[in-house]
Amino acid sequence: MNNVFPSTHPLVAAKLTLLRNVKTDSKKFRELIREIAAMLAYEATMDLAVREIEVQTPMSLTKGITVMERIGLVPVLRAGLGMVEGVWELIPGSEVWHIGLYRDEETLKPVSYYNKLPIEPTVSVCLVLDPMLATGGSAVATVDILRKWGVKKIKFVGILAAPEGITRLHEAHPDVPIHIAAIDEGLNEYGFILPGLGDAGDRQFGT
Ligand code: PRP
Repeated sequence: MNNVFPSTHPLVAAKLTLLRNVKTDSKKFRELIREIAAMLAYEATMDLAVREIEVQTPMSLTKGITVMERIGLVPVLRAGLGMVEGVWELIPGSEVWHIGLYRDEETLKPVSYYNKLPIEPTVSVCLVLDPMLATGGSAVATVDILRKWGVKKIKFVGILAAPEGITRLHEAHPDVPIHIAAIDEGLNEYGFILPGLGDAGDRQFGT
């Protein structure tokens, strides 16, 4: 599928298997979310714009590079929170902008409850962090918010996606690449991903 990048890394697949396991407790679950998020962010940032700079080693002067982009991490509350730490370790200079959305249990439509973005965009690239791309409603709403803010380069970094969510995000925002650990079979009648990993928010926060 165009612009969709399920990871092919064996470590991601092995960690995802542990994450899916119903016996994995909250502490281990959070650790796995953090680690997988870092590995997916590594893959999602392969095309960052760079500039050549000089660096003085203890031995001589040589050439290196510095990343030119200002990067924003955008965790979608609540479940996206657990992905921040791992990505932030890789990109410590990035800004974190939280977006609060929850999915109405009956309509499955996203409801916005937190957004403190300033008027002008402060970053050039946003990584939307949300472990689950189910119906795609939350991802589309988040990208809509970031586009309105004025960010041109947006990438979705998640853990699991249902084909329905991928199609929906693609239809609304075809230029947003989707980086995930795996594409699952589909959604059940309650909009949960199957086989999935359960409720990523509840499993992280022990609720
Ligand atoms: C989950 C998940 C996504 C959304 C995905 O959040 O973290 O944000 O559902 O579903 P969608 O693709 O159908 O929109 P949830 O609403 O359960 O909130 P929580 O993270 O606060 O638990």
